[in-house]
Amino acid sequence: MAVFFKRDILILSIIISVSLFSCGKDDKTEIIEKPDTTAVVTYPYQDSTLAVVDRVSDLMSRMTLKQKIGQMIQADSYPLLESELSSGYLGSVLSGGGSNPESNIASSWASMVNDFQKIAMKNRIPLVYGIDAIHGHNNVSNAVIFPHNIGLGCIQDMQTIEDAARVTAIEMSATGIPWTFAPCVAVARNIRWGRTYESYSENPDVVAKCGAAAVRGLQGSSLNNTTSVIACAKHFIGDGGTTEGDDQGNTELTEEELRAIHLPGYIAAIEEGVATIMVSYSSFNNEKMHANQYLITDVLKNELRFSGFVISDWDGVKDINSAGGLKQSITLAINAGIDMMMVPFDYINHLQYLEELVNDGSIKMDRINDAVSRILKVKFQKGLFERPYANAALSNEIGTNAHRDVARKCVQQSIVLLKNENKILPLSKSASKILVAGSIADDLGAQCGGWTIDWQGTNGDITTGTTILEGIKNGVNNASNVIYSSSGANASGSAVAIVVVGEKTPYAEGKGDKMANELVLSDDDITTINNVSATGVPIVLLIVSGRPLVIDEAILAKCSALCAVWLPGSEGAGVADVLFGDYNPTAKLCRMWPRNVSQVEKNSNTELDPLYPLGFGLNY
Ligand code: GLC
Repeated sequence: MAVFFKRDILILSIIISVSLFSCGKDDKTEIIEKPDTTAVVTYPYQDSTLAVVDRVSDLMSRMTLKQKIGQMIQADSYPLLESELSSGYLGSVLSGGGSNPESNIASSWASMVNDFQKIAMKNRIPLVYGIDAIHGHNNVSNAVIFPHNIGLGCIQDMQTIEDAARVTAIEMSATGIPWTFAPCVAVARNIRWGRTYESYSENPDVVAKCGAAAVRGLQGSSLNNTTSVIACAKHFIGDGGTTEGDDQGNTELTEEELRAIHLPGYIAAIEEGVATIMVSYSSFNNEKMHANQYLITDVLKNELRFSGFVISDWDGVKDINSAGGLKQSITLAINAGIDMMMVPFDYINHLQYLEELVNDGSIKMDRINDAVSRILKVKFQKGLFERPYANAALSNEIGTNAHRDVARKCVQQSIVLLKNENKILPLSKSASKILVAGSIADDLGAQCGGWTIDWQGTNGDITTGTTILEGIKNGVNNASNVIYSSSGANASGSAVAIVVVGEKTPYAEGKGDKMANELVLSDDDITTINNVSATGVPIVLLIVSGRPLVIDEAILAKCSALCAVWLPGSEGAGVADVLFGDYNPTAKLCRMWPRNVSQVEKNSNTELDPLYPLGFGLNY
């Protein structure tokens, strides 16, 4: 889970007088010298013409144990103290959900990242900065926000998903951030799970092809490209298969079932060259994934030949909660094959304990060298040693119209037409009166969902974008013919009523876990539908949600048309494009739509009679 704080980079001005580590020499000369501004090649590892494997080998030979261990630690940017970075003991920094700079604009992000990097580069080993850019560069104000994965999973054209990831990578590069913790290749099997919308599908093959497209878009033809970013397939393995959809819960399957359902996304991502993989908080048959050496090392690294590096989840090592305390949890995690620990705040203990565990033999030097060489390899491949800082030439690449057009196309292609009685859709742009109803119709934060600006997301005008209502007004020939009523009042005389219902309050992770009987339309939404229905005006029902919601069949009967809009992001105009026929729907359901609450926890392979089956979708 990401605890978010208001960013105050003045923290960096705090200087701890007490040195946390002696800077005494070890068996190797420490690389702690004056900042190298001339980029003179003094050592082989600095020679970009050499093979990465040779650069890694040379650098490793020059590092002390403390410096190696430091590469294995990732701390959250708040409250990072200058002394840790300058001592060369941190290899990575992240912004957890909502860990934004005070002024949340692209230039402030670039300055913050560069400030950290300047300190790290005093030791000539650049840090790698990570962030959850999971549906666009979603922490950053004015960045384009794409549909969440549940919508992308309904798209039939993988190029569209690749293009979305490409734009995300470009907008990240504009802020100097080279690593995103995406794509999530979870196969959500129970929509009670609060992270269902981060999963492309209940179907492993759909997840695999979408995840592969995302990796292609993010990492580009070469990680070394200036607008490529390091991708991270997550959360390994079985995060979407827990009993009752319990976030961070227990996945109870045979190994054969685990492989069949939850492994294809990783196989496909590895085939695309994904550079990092994040471990799941969940357990597999009651064994914490963060301590699962068989699956992380034997299966992922050896059998699947994953050659990048494995990172823990946020405090995932501490969450092992071993009887022996944090020290034993670190031993279990590193020996299981985790290469980097995301330790947002308690990094001083993690650094200290890791060094002690190597010195007492609990963790072998070979394991440390394997982890550090994997991490350095990715840093060299990304070109961080040559280009550690934000690329100022990209600074205007945030939120451009061209990028918004890519997101609008994703919205068009993700909306699933589920019902279209008497072909009421597409609507006429010349209708004399169109009523738009529902409190979600004009709420940018609701249509973006969680992981937007803040970790949990928030309602309202949270960033640059177009609400569904604004998109409809801009789509018709005369905007004054569009009337908005949250409650559905004043419907009489309308040619049609577009009623927007669904999950109004954004959520992320476990905060979105629900009981099955909660996954229904709210009373307010039902009242709105009834208000309009009583007037006899035909209803086009749009559901904005991070997962299917059970619709009472009597309510459904009152609606002439039904669309699953999912969480479309900042470009609400894409919804209007479908409603008015500027785009003929092509989307197909990425998961079955339950007929009733008793079907909520089921999947297509077990449920014979859903309201709409996996793969269903109409067109005009
Ligand atoms: C969170 C999530 C993970 C995310 C990480 C960093 O708890 O589980 O998906 O990448 O922490 O924010």
